[in-house]
Amino acid sequence: MQLHQASWQEIDTYLKGSKGIIVPIGSTEQHGPNGLLGTDAICPEVIARHAGDQSGILIGPTFNVGQAQHHLGFSGTISLRPSTMIAALYDWSMSLARHGFERIYWFNGHGGNTATITAAFSEIYADWSYRRAGANTKPLRLQMRNWWELPGIGSLCASIFPVGEGSHATASEVSVTYYAYPDAQKNVAMSPKIAPTGPILDADDYRRRFPDGRIGSDPSQATPEHGRRIVEAAAKALIEDYKGFLAAE
Ligand code: NI
Repeated sequence: MQLHQASWQEIDTYLKGSKGIIVPIGSTEQHGPNGLLGTDAICPEVIARHAGDQSGILIGPTFNVGQAQHHLGFSGTISLRPSTMIAALYDWSMSLARHGFERIYWFNGHGGNTATITAAFSEIYADWSYRRAGANTKPLRLQMRNWWELPGIGSLCASIFPVGEGSHATASEVSVTYYAYPDAQKNVAMSPKIAPTGPILDADDYRRRFPDGRIGSDPSQATPEHGRRIVEAAAKALIEDYKGFLAAE
């Protein structure tokens, strides 16, 4: 079930049975010569949608722009400042809380977002503590999970791509987007075959170190079929992880 395809009455009904929601969160940033700019938003969105279709869990609209300043040397990248993103996450969360959602599971597709999401949680909890002091109501509970860190997914990706998985524009994430959007596949020659590795600093430094945008990866290995395997396994793991989040004291 997807929030943006539901009516408000359907959300009212859902809230009578569950106070939880999964919200995909990602980034719009370059993903190398054959990767889509939307990769980091598409991956959690597609996995979450698959999980939602199977389980009836409510899936929120995708928060699809994040912390991508280091990719701004490449056309098409859109980035938020940390302070902007914290403010937006605060407003998204408080909007949902107002309707009665008590557990919000942010399902993340971009490693660069994690520190800012965690900071946003601190901001929300701080405000909740000040405003709700002494109130006999359940607290808002927040969780972040990176899709590639779901149980079993790292080992699955490593088994499919023992060489050249990399850390940005990975073979796995490009596969997931090719499964989701097969018509968007790009056949591009890349050299070197496996991209260099190194630290992530500012946009100009990034462009110098990683001229075609990839870090440590050979995403020419990506296929829709590999993506299908990853999406199906990750959706199953997501449902279990989310159930644990709902059940946690
Ligand atoms: Ni990515």
